[in-house]
Amino acid sequence: MKLIIDDANVDKIKKICEFYPVDGVTTNPSILAKSGRQPFDVLTEIRELIGEKAELHVQAVAAEAEGMLLDAKRITEVLGRSTYIKIPAVPEGFKAMMALKKKGYRVTATAIYTPMQAYLAGKCGADYAAPYINRIDNMGYNGVAVAKKIHDIFKKNELPTEVLAASFKNSQQVLELCEYGIGAATVAPDVIELFVKNPAINAAIDDFTADFEGLVGSGKSLKDC
Ligand code: E4P
Repeated sequence: MKLIIDDANVDKIKKICEFYPVDGVTTNPSILAKSGRQPFDVLTEIRELIGEKAELHVQAVAAEAEGMLLDAKRITEVLGRSTYIKIPAVPEGFKAMMALKKKGYRVTATAIYTPMQAYLAGKCGADYAAPYINRIDNMGYNGVAVAKKIHDIFKKNELPTEVLAASFKNSQQVLELCEYGIGAATVAPDVIELFVKNPAINAAIDDFTADFEGLVGSGKSLKDC
């Protein structure tokens, strides 16, 4: 499972990239608005920071297919042809997805709440389909179960589309999908930091340090021995 950062705050992305093995960055219009910066200013900085090989997902905002194609053109002109164009899984979006795939774009179907949306996006040739785990949970359904069902639909129908699960609020949701072998999860920096936030881990490391320093002296490590 790929691990992707769901944010457009450059400082936070920089910090996560320094300490965690991540595969890229996803954004959406609300995330861009939260950055308070002009879209292509912040996106260009993110692209430069993560490099051409990392995944960058940027959402088209036009409401109709023709406009989505123009958004996609502009996105890839500025951020590179490898950039994934996020397209909502609605009828205008399906039309855009089919046209984009014909032109060789990378496509991430987004705003997915139901397996049927994902199935249709897969039939349109989308590379990824992004179900919103926590938002589905908040509607009284089970977001993780929906993502697993979508994964199974893709495999059983031999569709190459992968699940890119989004909208996480805790590490258990991510772990369950990792165990299931979905394609990718995009997670906000504060949730990524929760993955290993565990007092037992820190206590174990503190004990090792104390024992070792008791042997060789305070502040010393193996390089000093
Ligand atoms: C990503 O593609 C989604 O837009 C995003 O993860 C939604 O997350 P939220 O439900 O935390 O806003």
